[in-house]
Amino acid sequence: MMGVVIVAVALAATASAAPAARIAERATTPTVYLAGDSTMALGGGGTGTQGWGEYLKYSLTIPVINKAIAGRSARSYTVEDHFAALAALVQPEDFVVIEFGHNDGGSLTPTDNGKSDCAGAGDEVCNTDIQHGILTYPAYLIAATQNFTSRGARVIIASPTPDNPWETGSFVYEASRFTAYANASAAGFAHAKFVDHGQLVGDEFRKLGGSVVEGFYPNDHTHTSPAGAAIVAQTFVRGVVCSDSFLKRHVKNETSAIVGSCL
Ligand SMILES: *[C@@H]1O[C@H](CO)[C@@H](O)[C@H](O)[C@H]1NC(C)=O
Ligand SMILES: *[C@@H]1O[C@H](CO)[C@@H](O)[C@H](O)[C@H]1NC(C)=O
Ligand SMILES: *[C@@H]1O[C@H](CO)[C@@H](O)[C@H](O)[C@H]1NC(C)=O
Repeated sequence: MMGVVIVAVALAATASAAPAARIAERATTPTVYLAGDSTMALGGGGTGTQGWGEYLKYSLTIPVINKAIAGRSARSYTVEDHFAALAALVQPEDFVVIEFGHNDGGSLTPTDNGKSDCAGAGDEVCNTDIQHGILTYPAYLIAATQNFTSRGARVIIASPTPDNPWETGSFVYEASRFTAYANASAAGFAHAKFVDHGQLVGDEFRKLGGSVVEGFYPNDHTHTSPAGAAIVAQTFVRGVVCSDSFLKRHVKNETSAIVGSCL
């Protein structure tokens, strides 16, 4: 049913004007909104760290508003109405980048921390003593994406950044289940794209080597230093440039300065 609605919206858009013309017609510049956790948020995970969302603006020609909040998961970002607040802000042709995963794992039993999602990839529902009707990670992302795209915004769902892949002394990158979930969540939408940010960061961090990358994780294996976050932002831009997202039209220095290569 949802697929039918999306196709209808896409056809209506095509009928009125070509995509490039629609962008040109918009009176104001589109804005990029970021929704995520501490790995993206202002201030990162504490002293000495920074979220990659703070560096994205240096690579784009349009404004970036970083709405990522430390400690949040797809579930808590939804339950606290942060997605709804963003949906009320977005204008047609704006972009929303959604990246969660670091706070979404974990078990709902014996204690529900208010962040863990209901396990599964579909319409499973869980109930705990603090919340009834807890949904899965894809269900939260699909609901948010539906809301944004129905308002004419374009969505990029990114896989989460890796924990320090050099932590053991040799390089290990393995996609978490949230990578596949993020991919699948975007798949049903004409105006949502998947960027495998985790893999792009992994590839770049492998190239940079263990001694450099160890320095990007000053406090723990999750939160990056400002220098690390700048690279994490650039790998996201690489993912955008390699995708068919409209956001690539707003990337600065399209060629030599963008790190990494396409997957
Ligand atoms: C979509 O966003 C609007 C505006 O904030 C909000 O009122 C509504 O509850 C949201 N719908 C869903 C399904 O999240
Ligand atoms: C994303 O989904 C597509 C289509 O199912 C698949 O071909 C691709 O391998 C997936 N990529 C990842 C990283 O999960
Ligand atoms: C584009 O160039 C600027 C200035 O040299 C640099 O700060 C930025 O990181 C570059 N963008 C990318 C995506 O590499």
